[in-house]
Amino acid sequence: MQGNARSGGLRSFLAAATATATTAAAAVTFTLTAGAGQAAALDNGLLRTPPMGFNNWNATHCDASFNESMVKGVADAFVSLGLKDVGYEYVNIDDCWAEPSRNANGDLVPNRTRFPNGIKAVADYVHSKGLKFGIYTSAGTKTCNGGGGFPGALNHEKQDAKLFASWGVDYLKYDNCNNQGVDAQQRYKAMRDALAASGRKIAYSICEWGQTDPKVWTWGEPVGNLWRTTGDISDTWSSMIGKVHINDDLARYAGPGHWNDPDMLEVGNGGMTATEYRTHFSLWAMMAAPLLIGSDIRNATATTTSILKNTDLIAVDQDTLGKQATIVSSSGGKVVYAKQLANGDRAVALLNENSSSATVSTTASAVGLGGSSSYRLKNLWSKATTTTTGSISASVPAHGTVVFRVSRG
Ligand code: GLA
Repeated sequence: MQGNARSGGLRSFLAAATATATTAAAAVTFTLTAGAGQAAALDNGLLRTPPMGFNNWNATHCDASFNESMVKGVADAFVSLGLKDVGYEYVNIDDCWAEPSRNANGDLVPNRTRFPNGIKAVADYVHSKGLKFGIYTSAGTKTCNGGGGFPGALNHEKQDAKLFASWGVDYLKYDNCNNQGVDAQQRYKAMRDALAASGRKIAYSICEWGQTDPKVWTWGEPVGNLWRTTGDISDTWSSMIGKVHINDDLARYAGPGHWNDPDMLEVGNGGMTATEYRTHFSLWAMMAAPLLIGSDIRNATATTTSILKNTDLIAVDQDTLGKQATIVSSSGGKVVYAKQLANGDRAVALLNENSSSATVSTTASAVGLGGSSSYRLKNLWSKATTTTTGSISASVPAHGTVVFRVSRG
């Protein structure tokens, strides 16, 4: 008895000592972690919903048309076309904005022909419209384009982040070219820390294309606000739908402040039909993807603006719950996606990838909304509202997508 009691006492003592040691170790780890600024998620407080705005790359690449007057004109168009009113905010510039060499102080220099008044003047103009301004560079020795490329920020992170902050930059897209084989996490964390120390809140877009292992979506959340999951989009159906399917399995990595990025929009660039562009916009909204307009909206057609200004789909993209859609069913090119929304509704997309029209169907319970005797369906393109006891179905044109907002009762 006594022996048992003694050994019981010893066991309790050891258990208590182990618990204390574990707690102490956890406390030390916590302190070190917090002290080193390694919070679980990037804590810049930005992009709690996916970014909305513009980037010139898909429209211009490095053409001469990419210049100060274009960027200012896009900011003007955000206001005059009502794009600002529906949530578009960031006016971002891409590669080829710089001179090929740094100056005597080692600073990046704006291209003198494209931006004769410098970048700060353009950022100031964008800010004067109540909008935000974004810039681009690469986590390498050079950027991706423009012959030999323009100077990149590898090993210049602090100096470049400071310069961007001094220009009033609000968003940085950080590319992956000419990275010298340096570990991706090391390169992207160095710029995260440089931005955090820059004195300005700058949204951080990792553009690593999902190239290296471990995949960026597994480590991106504490590093950036969004990360490219794919190579570059082009203005074709097959490219666009291919990006969607790369993102299909990545929903669990997305959430407020940290988004999968299947690349910028091609809506309005002319390579797809209006139906295909509506699918493109529908699926980007379902994926809680960035809505970065990639066409020259100074010359937007009525069809283009009607797609980009679909406020029902913008609400799906910008829903505060921050869920990316998942696949409910997929067979024979007929794919059903569902996205949970903050008020309990579901957004349901019926995609037809075939080259002739097809009926695509699901049910309220399959999309996670069982338990009601009737449901309201709002078609987010036609705006028609219907009721159903559970069946959700539509005839969908070739390469089309019907999106319903489904509510109980
Ligand atoms: C890479 C990026 C593109 C674009 C170009 C610019 O290809 O993935 O989005 O920024 O570089 O050179």
